[in-house]
Amino acid sequence: MKRTTLPLFFALLLALVSCKTEKADPNAASLSPREEHRPAYHFTPDSMWMNDPNGMVFYEGEYHLFYQYYPDSTVWGPMHWGHAVSKDLVSWEHLPIAIYPDSLGLIFSGSAVVDWNNSSGFGQNGKPPLIAIFTQHDMAGERAQTLDFQVQSMAYSLDKGRTWTMYEGNPIVPNPGIRDFRDPKVSWHEATKQWVMIFAAKDRVRFYTSPDLKAWTFASEFGEKLGAHGGVWECPDMFPLSVEGTNLSKWVILSSINPGAPNVGSGTQYFVGEFDGKTFTPDNAFAGETAHWLDYGRDNYAGVTWSDIPASDGRRLFIGWMSNWSYATVVPTERWRSATTLPRTLSLRQTEGGLRLSSMPVRELEKLRSEAHPLAAMTLSGEKTLPVSGPLLELDLEWETGDTPPVTFGLKLFNSLGEEVRIGYRTIDNQYFIDRSKAGKSAFSDNFAGLHIAPRQVSGNRYTMRIWLDVASAELFADGGLTTMTDIFFPNEDFGQVAVFSEGGEVKVRGMVWGVRGF
Ligand code: FRU
Repeated sequence: MKRTTLPLFFALLLALVSCKTEKADPNAASLSPREEHRPAYHFTPDSMWMNDPNGMVFYEGEYHLFYQYYPDSTVWGPMHWGHAVSKDLVSWEHLPIAIYPDSLGLIFSGSAVVDWNNSSGFGQNGKPPLIAIFTQHDMAGERAQTLDFQVQSMAYSLDKGRTWTMYEGNPIVPNPGIRDFRDPKVSWHEATKQWVMIFAAKDRVRFYTSPDLKAWTFASEFGEKLGAHGGVWECPDMFPLSVEGTNLSKWVILSSINPGAPNVGSGTQYFVGEFDGKTFTPDNAFAGETAHWLDYGRDNYAGVTWSDIPASDGRRLFIGWMSNWSYATVVPTERWRSATTLPRTLSLRQTEGGLRLSSMPVRELEKLRSEAHPLAAMTLSGEKTLPVSGPLLELDLEWETGDTPPVTFGLKLFNSLGEEVRIGYRTIDNQYFIDRSKAGKSAFSDNFAGLHIAPRQVSGNRYTMRIWLDVASAELFADGGLTTMTDIFFPNEDFGQVAVFSEGGEVKVRGMVWGVRGF
């Protein structure tokens, strides 16, 4: 007995002592090596698998971010709603899993609203309930090859989203026999004083309406043969948005699609039009097969917008999943998989080609800026390394092309291993691009390395590029956000250096570069 307990006693003592030393050392956290490819200022789950952002709602000073989460593996599996909150859209506090699967199925994507008038009756003591509405996916039904294994369900919370009670009347929208029938986004339609639900039904969206969030009536469908149809539609959203600089308000539908995006795999298209409480009527420019894309990069999918942002703020805030189903489950991260995009403000802008949706990172992110390095105006031909250290940078670059032959210009991130990412514009066919064909690891998927392009939405010889760089991603917002590209990458060494370049002729460039503080 004694012989065995004594070593155990010492082992415990040792553990206690080492624990104490670690706690007493204020630098302990920074001494532990950073996990390879873990973003420094984008949201990631601490561990395990994440996909779509879900249920984003603002309530009592907190931005909620729920997300598709599988707590038992780093690849997709039975879905739960993970949960985090933020007071500023910049730093996030991880909270326990919010919603677990039950007998009706897994918890797929969906939305959340504040039921201000307690139309559902779940509120208590004058406090409105938070209502989450999501798809439940019945694995057994799918295996049995039935068609009706996805339904819409609801749950409510009376403690700021910390705990949720499943509604006993679930499902609230049964399935009429449509195999892909999912991802409800609910909002209050003030003009007709009713709740509206939009969700994806195979190759289009469906609208339902309700007085109380529990009883739903089919209203209409939208999207058959309109826009892109290379895959099923998923995770739609619909909201009003005013056209910048006017009193005009339009309705915008976001609809993710997989596959079928312009640069292969998953992507998000949008439509602009009118909505009367029952039916969405697209403007002419959005009533054909030409698709318009929220982001042309490979890695912005299933994004939707926050509900209940106060009118005094007035912004339409968006966040997406920064990955692509083409390779999401095999990217080379160890303890977790996936990140979200930066939160973005959406706007509608009148351009030469008509109304276009623009995205820009939310202004709150500016508080991550550290030292500023002005980039004095210069005429550039070839390559010039900037006196800043990456990879965590925000750049605001203005370019001007002259009367030159076709030029390709932009920003290059690189490391000492010869790996690089190029982000820029080529005048020969008027395309922005992100080229990650030499960006480091790519053997995990045939579909990863490559050059991605995006058409310009305006003309003229002046170009602006806002670029946010994290350890494993680049987000480009060109021409004030009218062309947006988001791409991830996995270099074998951080991209510690950046250069501006111009090939084929001269361009003028100037701007500002900020260091970005990670967490
Ligand atoms: C989109 C999606 C949704 C679905 C969820 C499942 O990425 O396929 O349509 O609800 O992921 O995790």
